Amino acid sequence: MNRCHAIASALLLLMGLLVGVSMRSDTMARSAEDDPAVDHGVALFTGTAYMSGMVPCATCHTVTPGGAALSGPNLAGIAQTAATRIHGVSAADYLRLAILAPDAYVVDGYVAGQMNHRYADLLQTGILTDADIDALVAYLLTLDASPDQTQPLAASRTPVIVPQARGTGPIIASTTWTAAFARAAGANPADIVTIAPGPDTMRRPLGYVMTDDDSAKLNGARLVILMGCEEFATTLLAAADRVAVPVVIVTSRNGREIIRADTALIAQALGTTAANERWMAGFDRLLDDLQAEIAQALPADQRQALVHHFQLEAAEDLGFTPLVAFGPAPLPPDEIRSLAALRPPWILDNYHTVQGTGISAAAPDAHYVQLINFPGIDGTVTLEDVYRANADRILAAITSDPASGQSVQQIGAVAEMVLGVFLTLAVLGALIASLTTRTQMHCDNEVGCDFVA
Ligand code: HEC
Repeated sequence: MNRCHAIASALLLLMGLLVGVSMRSDTMARSAEDDPAVDHGVALFTGTAYMSGMVPCATCHTVTPGGAALSGPNLAGIAQTAATRIHGVSAADYLRLAILAPDAYVVDGYVAGQMNHRYADLLQTGILTDADIDALVAYLLTLDASPDQTQPLAASRTPVIVPQARGTGPIIASTTWTAAFARAAGANPADIVTIAPGPDTMRRPLGYVMTDDDSAKLNGARLVILMGCEEFATTLLAAADRVAVPVVIVTSRNGREIIRADTALIAQALGTTAANERWMAGFDRLLDDLQAEIAQALPADQRQALVHHFQLEAAEDLGFTPLVAFGPAPLPPDEIRSLAALRPPWILDNYHTVQGTGISAAAPDAHYVQLINFPGIDGTVTLEDVYRANADRILAAITSDPASGQSVQQIGAVAEMVLGVFLTLAVLGALIASLTTRTQMHCDNEVGCDFVA
C-alpha cells in the first residue's frame, strides 16, 4: 500500500473542495444582489429574519442538491417539481399552497400533518404578510437543482418583531440548551423552568415527548424559548398559543456569533440587554482563553478536523479548521472511505447524534472526540461550562493515544489491513472521480461543506 497515493487522492479531494467553494461564493453573491424579494425569502427560510413563533423552513428542509434530507424533503429542484404536483396548478400557486395548506398535497413517503402547520395562522395574525409568502415563493422558484445551488444566508439577522416578555412568571426553556441561552441573555436562573431533561437522562433531548404537566407549566409564564427543531416544538408552540405566552425561537447551534445574536434577541424580549452585553464580554474572553490553551498544546497544522455538522462553529470557536462537515444523516460507506482518506488529525463528532465512529474506525490515527451541545453531562449547566467541557475533552485526547480505548496494539495488524483496503478504494475512487466526473465539495454556507462526489 502506497502512502503517496493516499496523499495524492486526499489532495485531489481537497482541490475539489476548493473549486466547489470558490464557485459557490460567486453564485451566492449573484443571487443575493439580484432580487430583494428572493433575499427576503432566504432570510425567512433560514430564520435570519426573526418572526415571533415562526419555525424557519431550514429546520426541516435542505436545498443542496443530493444533500441528506432532514425531517422534510430536500427542496433542491422544487422550482421544476412544483409545476408537476397538482394538475392545472402553476408552480407558484402550488408553493403557496404547500406553505399555507401543507396537507393539500402530501409528498410520497411522508404523511399529512408532518410539516409545520402554523404559517397560515401567522399570516392571519399578521406576523407574516402576503409579501413574506410571496418572498418565500420567489426564493423557492430559484431552487432549480443546478449543481451549485445552495441556500445563501442573508447578510444580517434583522429582527422583524421581537416579542416582549409578559409579567414576572417563569421563563420556559424547551431544553437545557435553551435554558443556558436564557441565562446568557441575563435571565435569573431561579426563574427558568426547563421542559425536556438534559443529556444525562436523554442523550438526545430533542426527542422528548411533552406531557400535560409540562403544558401546565406555561400558565402565567413570561416567555417561551425554543429552537424549533425539537420533536415537541409543535406541542410547545400550541401550549404557548393557548395561554398567549410570547415565544422566541433561537437558532440552536453553538457558535460565538450565533450565541451573540440569539442571546441578544432573548435579552431584548426580557429587557436584560445590559446584563447580556456584560455576559457576552466575559464569554468572548473565555473563548479566547480556551483557543489559546488548545493552540499551545496543538500546532495549527494539527488543528484540522472532520467535524459533525452540528459542531462546526463550536469547533471553529476552539481554534479548529474544519476540513469537511459530516452528518447529520448516517454516512454511506463510500463517504466514510473518502473522509478517512483525507487523513484528518481530528474527528470531532456530536455526542447527541453520533455519526463519526465509522470514520474513526477507518482512520485510526485520528484523535476522535465527541463534543456536547446540551448542558447536563460532565456537570455542565451554562454555555461556558459546555465550551470548557469540550475543550477539556480535546485536551485529554491530545495526551492519550488517538485510538486508545480501542486497544490498537492488539488489533494493530487488522487495523493496518483494513486501512490498506480503505486507502486502496479511496485511491481508486479518486482516480475514477477525476477521470469521469467532477469531484466537488458543495458548500452551504450555514454549515460548511457537504460532500458530493
Ligand atoms: C417541521 C418540519 C417542517 C417545517 C418547519 C417546514 N416544512 Fe415543508 N415539509 C415538511 C414535510 C415533512 C413535508 C412533506 C409532507 C407534505 O408534503 O406535507 C414538507 C413539504 C414541503 C413542500 C412540498 C415539497 C414537494 O416536493 O412538493 C414545500 C414546497 C415545503 N415543504 C416548503 C416549506 C417552506 C417554504 C417552509 C417554511 C415556511 C417549510 N416547508 C417548513 C416539513 C417541514
